[in-house]
Amino acid sequence: MATMITLPSPPFFMILFLIVLLPSACRCTGPDPLQDFCVADMKASISVNGFPCKPVYEVKSDEFFFEGLAKEGNTTNVFRANITAADVLAFPGLNTLGISMNRLDFTSGGVNPSHSHPHATMAGVIIKGKLLVGFMTTANVLHSKVLEA
Ligand SMILES: *[C@@H]1O[C@H](CO)[C@@H](O)[C@H](O)[C@H]1NC(C)=O
Ligand SMILES: *[C@@H]1O[C@H](CO)[C@@H](O)[C@H](O)[C@H]1NC(C)=O
Repeated sequence: MATMITLPSPPFFMILFLIVLLPSACRCTGPDPLQDFCVADMKASISVNGFPCKPVYEVKSDEFFFEGLAKEGNTTNVFRANITAADVLAFPGLNTLGISMNRLDFTSGGVNPSHSHPHATMAGVIIKGKLLVGFMTTANVLHSKVLEA
């Protein structure tokens, strides 16, 4: 559950774009989606599976880009760690796409408390340093490993 990422570098962003663009580029999945995108209308009062879409004429290019992952989080706190979320709240262009990304910064001895991600699959890359990561199965078996950059 606790996959950790520190200090993203330019290749990290290339990975992000590959993940987002690959399904439409390879034509190896089902039919085309009904719409090109669904930029979140954060002010809408109704709720669907995600946020409702903004009208296309209100969409701005900046809503498809997020620079927050390039910024180191402040780890001066009780967990000695910091999570920067690139989710729909930070990055409205992700709405309905079923993907998000986090940057996790740790200082020595830092920890990301145990948590769960129901109905989601997580992958991570260690950019710098060494980190113990792992997850617990529903049968209470711990799978863990120390990963290096
Ligand atoms: C994480 O880092 C950001 C950027 O430095 C800071 O604004 C935020 O307060 C930090 N969060 C925690 C929980 O320390
Ligand atoms: C990091 O957070 C601590 C605690 O809130 C604060 O004292 C410190 O100034 C922050 N450091 C930076 C670089 O923002």
